[in-house]
Amino acid sequence: MTKKLKFPDGFLWGAATSAHQVEGNVHNDWSEWEKENAERLAEEAGGKWKKWQQEKFPEMFEKENYISGAACDHYNLYESDFDTAKELGHNAHRFSIEWSRIEPEEGKFDEKEIEHYKDVMKSLKNKELEPFVTLWHYTNPLWIRNIGGWTNKKTVEYFIRYAEKIISIFPEVKFWVILNEPTVYVSLSYLKGTQPPGRKNIFLARRAMNNLTQAHKSTYEMIHKNLESAKVGTAYSVNYWQGYKKYPWNWILAKIMNSLEGYFFRKIENKSDYIGLQYYRSVTLGWKWGGNFWGIFDSTFHESKDFTDLGWNIYSRGIYYFLKKVAKYNLPIYITENGIADADDSKREKFIKGHLFWVHKAISEGADVRGYFYWSLMDNIEFVEDRGFWPRFGLIEVDYKTQVRTIRKSALEYAKICKSNELEIDGK
Ligand code: BGC
Repeated sequence: MTKKLKFPDGFLWGAATSAHQVEGNVHNDWSEWEKENAERLAEEAGGKWKKWQQEKFPEMFEKENYISGAACDHYNLYESDFDTAKELGHNAHRFSIEWSRIEPEEGKFDEKEIEHYKDVMKSLKNKELEPFVTLWHYTNPLWIRNIGGWTNKKTVEYFIRYAEKIISIFPEVKFWVILNEPTVYVSLSYLKGTQPPGRKNIFLARRAMNNLTQAHKSTYEMIHKNLESAKVGTAYSVNYWQGYKKYPWNWILAKIMNSLEGYFFRKIENKSDYIGLQYYRSVTLGWKWGGNFWGIFDSTFHESKDFTDLGWNIYSRGIYYFLKKVAKYNLPIYITENGIADADDSKREKFIKGHLFWVHKAISEGADVRGYFYWSLMDNIEFVEDRGFWPRFGLIEVDYKTQVRTIRKSALEYAKICKSNELEIDGK
């Protein structure tokens, strides 16, 4: 017996990408960082990943794994990639505009690159894919890096000027994502130091966070001054925290962490037209008996059997927890990212359906969810924390040597949901 869970009319179905991860031949702070660190990262892979991961993905020991280079050549292949998205039943697409292409030098806007994004936008329009446009997805032009990136207050002004230029070119775009995951960026770039600029300094982290928050607020106002009806927000990522084993003190700690997860929404709540939620996994933390330390553990450490190629714990109910939590802001909610690294495509279908089941449940209990973007349309470079090309998140598999694309089986299953606007599940 099957049951059909219907999604609201007009629901947006699609997938997400970011410029640096898919376009290829990008010159920014990240591409420089890749060149400087690729050798070190290849050498360190053995200490960073588990034995099963090393055996399954030996490319992590190659320097090339860490250099974006031609990436998926989506800069040239976007037209056929969007054709595939359309074929797969998508009606929307989230992507980012690369600041370093638009403004490679301070105050000099590159007309050729502007034309490129006009073509991209035209292509989406022709295929009736609603654009969800991100203005900043982690990367900065080199001249911004050279003035101290987001730790410099001037970057806020420069960013607003760039954003103003973009929105003046694309007044027809309805959905704008100002920033992608500012808190993740700050913690990895300025506290953990595992991404450019690779700093570990709490004062710089604070400054960068304040500047990014300011950039969100001022850009929000600027866009609304120019485009009254635009829907403007920022994409924010959350982890669902669980306590290690059944020790109550670990669960209390996890509860505290979950309550802190909404922190950025609270900061921007009156300057957002929607909530952009990104959810990937649950994280376990606590006192590991006999382990002698407090720690954060992924599933591979202990009891869970359900984990991704990155060792992330799959916990679909977590998305429901956060949807219920953010519903209190009374704003439309878009799931701007949710996805799995799963090279052999054995878990993706279940992952997508599992999460959508909980999304639907939240909707049926009043959460105003209006769209879902799977991460990602195609395999790409996992530049977050310098993982490189080996984690395979795509609905479409990419052969990086030939740029040949192959649609994964799970993508066809997701297509059925997108096309019918409903999820079929077993049950009464
Ligand atoms: C980021 C993406 C990234 C994905 C998977 C998100 O945090 O926005 O750029 O590829 O997670 O790690």
